[in-house]
Amino acid sequence: MRTARKLAMLLALGIAQTQAATVDEASGLAIAPGWELVRTHCGGCHSHALVTGQRADRQTWLDTIRWMQATQNLWQFDAATENGILDYLAANYPPQPNRRRAPIPPTLMPGTATELE
Ligand code: HEC
Repeated sequence: MRTARKLAMLLALGIAQTQAATVDEASGLAIAPGWELVRTHCGGCHSHALVTGQRADRQTWLDTIRWMQATQNLWQFDAATENGILDYLAANYPPQPNRRRAPIPPTLMPGTATELE
């Protein structure tokens, strides 16, 4: 029992340390090559959370940037900066087809009005 509790604490500490090492606390951005570019260019108008909450392939990230440039006053990037931003976004926030939870089974759903009568 005691050993199990110690192990659980060590595990929790390990997870906490892993997160601290890989996510910037202020912005919530994953710390990986190019993250400072995104911190600099992608947090001025909206929260970085709008970035970290999104998942897309490189082309869709580029489309999003082009849309902001065309309609939201986002500035132009030089090629190196734009590639750095896109490499970072495509690598760290790629598409995830199964992000939604599984549907609730019908047996766990509330009854229909007729069942309640
Ligand atoms: C000049 C201002 C500005 C900057 C800088 C900016 N954005 Fe945006 N962005 C916007 C606006 C405005 C919206 C729309 C917000 C809303 O709908 O509430 C938006 C929306 C988004 C969305 C949501 C798009 C959607 O389809 O819902 C994402 C993702 C995004 N931005 C990513 C980025 C990234 C990545 C960068 C850096 C390359 C960036 N933004 C920099 C203005 C900006």
